[in-house]
Amino acid sequence: MAGLGLERVVKQFGSFVAVNEVSLDIRDGEFLAVLGPSGCGKTTILRLIAGFERVSRGTIRLGEHVVSTEEEHMPPERRRVGVVFQSYALWPHMNVGENVGYPLRVAGLRREQRSRRVAQALETVGLTGFGDRRPADLSGGQRQRVALARCLVMDPQIVLLDEPLANLDTHLRGSMQREFDEYHRRTGTTMLYITHDQSEAMALADRVAVMSQGRVVQLAPPSQLYREPASRMVAEFVGQASVVEGDVWTAAEAGRVRARVLGRECLLRAAPEQPPQQAAAICLRPDDVSVRPAVAGDAAGTGIIRRMTYKGGYFSLEMEPVDAPGRMLKLNVQEPCSVEVGGRLAVDIRDGWVIPAA
Ligand SMILES: Nc1ncnc2c1ncn2[C@@H]1O[C@H](COP(=O)(O)OP(=O)(O)OP(=O)(O)O)[C@@H](O)[C@H]1O
Ligand SMILES: [Mg+2]
Repeated sequence: MAGLGLERVVKQFGSFVAVNEVSLDIRDGEFLAVLGPSGCGKTTILRLIAGFERVSRGTIRLGEHVVSTEEEHMPPERRRVGVVFQSYALWPHMNVGENVGYPLRVAGLRREQRSRRVAQALETVGLTGFGDRRPADLSGGQRQRVALARCLVMDPQIVLLDEPLANLDTHLRGSMQREFDEYHRRTGTTMLYITHDQSEAMALADRVAVMSQGRVVQLAPPSQLYREPASRMVAEFVGQASVVEGDVWTAAEAGRVRARVLGRECLLRAAPEQPPQQAAAICLRPDDVSVRPAVAGDAAGTGIIRRMTYKGGYFSLEMEPVDAPGRMLKLNVQEPCSVEVGGRLAVDIRDGWVIPAA
């Protein structure tokens, strides 16, 4: 097991900067998720760590060893980094045991040693007895476990996973998530897990690094990411959020400010250095807002329901506030409920987060 450090890592392809000054410290035994939209540089970071790509600038350290700098590049096979890809990349003509044992054969281990370690790896992923099957005769989840076993058989110091569940259906994803989680708890292996699925990142990781356009824009535990997004992008990418304008009247005191949002006075959470500010960006989660039918005389703080989606037990609503035409406020309303599209509601703002000014 080992920690991992990236220090101001840059990767350019020609003049295009795919990874831009990324610094990350992953603790020994930590489960870190890298989350971000397509093309933001996630896979490139994984390939840099595994040693499939050279850094343009910066330093990568694995445990005690510097493995990548502009001048030095330790080859992938010496890094003891295990990689699992989305496309399982199993050999179709080899059976499960041969697939898992392949890296050991390449490394020149003898047959008896190989079969012992293959059996161990298959046991770790719950596939004891599957050694003679062909990949074609396995389910998607089982294939993914074979890919994981093949990565574990080399006894990696760190495991990198690139969207390993993207090809699986929702149920299987859930059960594989539990398996990754259990494997991590049992072995304490340092894991870096790449995904563009925020719920997967939140469910699995100790900390999540959110990336946008080659940069890490926030690195925090899941709950902090959700409750205290560092930017509008993070607020909208992680969980459901409405970002609306509000006027912050007071400087932060004990983590709270007085503000006016959508025509309502309210108390919001804010960073300690938050000053009074006109037209600040406010992140409202569906649970931050409560609603009731608007009555005659309600002017400020009302809105028209534009969309309703049944979610099982509750409805997810989009409401257009009278005070912010064109914006949509996301709300949840418990079942049974009598509201309908075109109806008018009054909102109360119970909580919310002032997104720090850039
Ligand atoms: N070998 C390459 N040559 C040129 N550009 C590249 C190369 N590899 C990646 N890129 C570019 O770098 C950017 C980041 O790519 P990367 O594969 O890291 O994205 P990603 O975050 O993994 O996206 P996805 O979620 O779609 O897998 C993209 O714009 C991509 O086109
Ligand atoms: Mg990718």
